[in-house]
Amino acid sequence: MGMDTSEWLRSFEATRAAADGWNPCETETLEALGRLRLDFLGRGGRLTESLKGLKGLSLDDRRKLGPRAQSLKASLAERIQRRKSELESSLDLSLEKDRVDVTLPALPPGRGRLHPLTLMALEMTDILRRMGFSVADGPLVEDDWHNFGALNIPEHHPARDMQDTFYLKDLPFLLRTHTSPVQIRAMERARPPLRVICPGGRVFRHDQVDATHSAVFHQVECLAVDRGITFADLKGTLDVFMKSLLGPSTKTRFRPSYFQFTEPSAEVDVSCLLCGGKGCPVCKLSGWLEMLGAGVVNPAVFKAVGLDPEEWSGFAFGLGVERLAIMKYRIPDIRLFYENDLRFLRQFDENIV
Ligand code: PHE
Repeated sequence: MGMDTSEWLRSFEATRAAADGWNPCETETLEALGRLRLDFLGRGGRLTESLKGLKGLSLDDRRKLGPRAQSLKASLAERIQRRKSELESSLDLSLEKDRVDVTLPALPPGRGRLHPLTLMALEMTDILRRMGFSVADGPLVEDDWHNFGALNIPEHHPARDMQDTFYLKDLPFLLRTHTSPVQIRAMERARPPLRVICPGGRVFRHDQVDATHSAVFHQVECLAVDRGITFADLKGTLDVFMKSLLGPSTKTRFRPSYFQFTEPSAEVDVSCLLCGGKGCPVCKLSGWLEMLGAGVVNPAVFKAVGLDPEEWSGFAFGLGVERLAIMKYRIPDIRLFYENDLRFLRQFDENIV
């Protein structure tokens, strides 16, 4: 037979006292905790031995003392486990694992900058404002009258073809295909004399997207209406505008062209930004880059907005912001403007370092 009950109790109470006297906070390492666990609960540990010793006691005593021994085992195991989790997640331990130098200065917060197209449009607006033009704007969703009819673009004209224009489903509206409707809105809003610029608005065309085409792009539109305005005013304004924008040695060239809303109309070229007119691959050896459409306001447009073409005359021009930026910065693909790749965008806003 094993030990008698009083002997068992003495050793069990000593074990319990030792367990109760253990202060978990004093066990500072996982190793020490492991040793303590073995000491009580390991094979041959003090509590393990007490539990084993129960076998030698009478059935009555086993029924009485067994649960006490089991509950001590359970509570001790739980306290050890809790301390183990504490130690594992302690600050010391994590600092040990991944040393972070908390004294290093933080990275400066990134500052926003202006998009190259915004910069380009602002620059153009700024020049024209100094020449006496004021800012005007119109909606992106237009009606047929402002986008086409009032601009003397007849019903059957191919520019109205579904291929070029996005029409709104079941509604008498469309997405403007150019910024020229802003001319009409400006003349409806105020009586001449009038000098307005629409700075870099979005326009929409049903184009296949590739390196040089986008279904959404930006235009700057300019309109001057007064008594006695001639083609010479257009030439002078554009020459000064282009020299301010692209440098004092920039030359302009006017080629005859056709737009419904101007008569006469011109396509305007500027001397190549790269070779200055000598001829290079960028200008395809011509020395010139095609830049914008322009002309003298067609009398039919004045009639459409209720102005007397005998009294008033004017000029207008419109140019693509992307096209200008592509030429100025020699950008190989129009899609770069819309993809928001920071490596691309960071190159433009020179005011921000
Ligand atoms: N709206 C024309 C276009 O989109 C450009 C233009 C504007 C031409 C003003 C003449 C006068 O092509």
